Amino acid sequence: MPATIGGPTAAKKSIVRRNPAMNTAQTTGALTPEQVAAFERDGYIVLRGLFDAEEVDLLRRAMEEDPSVRDHMLVRADGEGGGTRIALWNRAGDSVYGLAARSDRMVAAAEALLGGPVYHFQSKLTAKDAGGGGAWEWHQDYGYWYYNGCLYPRLLSCMIALDRTDRENGCLQFLKGSHQLGRVEHVQITKEQNGIDPARVAAAEQRLERVYAELDPGDVVIFHCNLFHRSDQNRSDRRRWTLIVCYNRVDNDTITKDDDRYYVPLERVPDGALKAAGLKFADAGNAEHFTSKPYVPKVGAAE
Ligand code: SIN
Ligand code: MN
Repeated sequence: MPATIGGPTAAKKSIVRRNPAMNTAQTTGALTPEQVAAFERDGYIVLRGLFDAEEVDLLRRAMEEDPSVRDHMLVRADGEGGGTRIALWNRAGDSVYGLAARSDRMVAAAEALLGGPVYHFQSKLTAKDAGGGGAWEWHQDYGYWYYNGCLYPRLLSCMIALDRTDRENGCLQFLKGSHQLGRVEHVQITKEQNGIDPARVAAAEQRLERVYAELDPGDVVIFHCNLFHRSDQNRSDRRRWTLIVCYNRVDNDTITKDDDRYYVPLERVPDGALKAAGLKFADAGNAEHFTSKPYVPKVGAAE
């Protein structure tokens, strides 16, 4: 029987389960075969406590205080009259957040799940502030990245929680297993946001379970680029900031070089590099390649 979406069981269900199999990657990023199988089946896995309190504090402060991040904040309108502040950059450099993206634990996890060497594709701060910060409509990341020239859906995103993120402050929601539907047509929702064809979402919601990625600071949820995901506005009085690091498989390098997301070798660093660097900001020369506008491919208008 198909899972009832939005029903009492689905509504209560979250992916906060403390499955010991999900806790093994804390220091090395090496994943178990069960974790890889869960990713292939469900389209996501959660790694609890991948970053410890000191590392999260460095990442959070860098997002708050680094002038490069502050100067590149953009507002991305949602379809409900609100917006989220975001900052986007394409390269993983020597800042503490660049080192996090290059750390053994993150790269090893991405490589285990994508099945080969990866490079850094994009990072993003989603700074959902308290009291109404922006919703994200149902979308697949590959609905965007296809247009960057990636032939295969061999990309994934790692969302690092900088604050507690839960249903009250607009955590990420998934349709479990929806990555198996392949790339689905997107339509324009706002000038800065495309979303999955609503008829497809409705049909998928009848068949697939909705899960909520509730995370504590330092937890990481990793999800496949074709997984349907969305999030509500943050109507709580608690901020919800997350840092999302995305990787592409090296052999899936973009077929065009227009969007600054083509293959650049990723220099891996040991996990200890974050603490060794301390509160290291981006260089003034924009080695991280911060962008000045969100990337939104042209697709058809919503009906
Ligand atoms: C995203 O899908 O890129 C961001 C979603 C969120 O921050 O809730
Ligand atoms: Mn997304």
